[in-house]
Amino acid sequence: MMGRSVVLIKPDGVQRGLIGEVIKRFEQKGLHLVGLKMISLTDAILDEWYVHHKDKPFFPSLKAYMMSYPVVAMLWEGIEAATTIRTLLGVTKGRAAAAGTIRGDFAMSQQYNLVHASESDEAAEKEQSLIFTEEEIFPWMKIDLSQFYAEEELK
Ligand code: CMP
Repeated sequence: MMGRSVVLIKPDGVQRGLIGEVIKRFEQKGLHLVGLKMISLTDAILDEWYVHHKDKPFFPSLKAYMMSYPVVAMLWEGIEAATTIRTLLGVTKGRAAAAGTIRGDFAMSQQYNLVHASESDEAAEKEQSLIFTEEEIFPWMKIDLSQFYAEEELK
């Protein structure tokens, strides 16, 4: 089933000039970009976004980091998009992430891990509503989908 994932290129990814690298990997994989913008995250957005981390000791530092510079927010579509994108990212701790993943190839830190992606379809829906308006989402027809999936997979 087609799904969506919200991806943020975090402040460290923006600072390190990795916006193009991340987008390149997702495009090459066959994912479909339906929303893209730069945004400065606010206290209010982050309280909602990271509500499951609010009691963790690193929460204040995580928020300060996520507000330190703008992020690039994207909405990607694909079959099982959330799982697929998390595989491309690698595990949270950059220095433990497998080679070939984005964090495995470019990150050392547990906090400065370059990219965020939705954990599930439900998380993607919540995150989408926190960042994008309906007008900022473009469900354009990708004409080469049949080269990336078998017909049965697209039904
Ligand atoms: P992500 O998994 O995208 O969302 C939660 C973020 O919190 C995570 O990426 C890291 O940036 C950060 N994080 C997770 N664990 C720690 C930790 N132990 N110390 C500091 N930051 C963390």
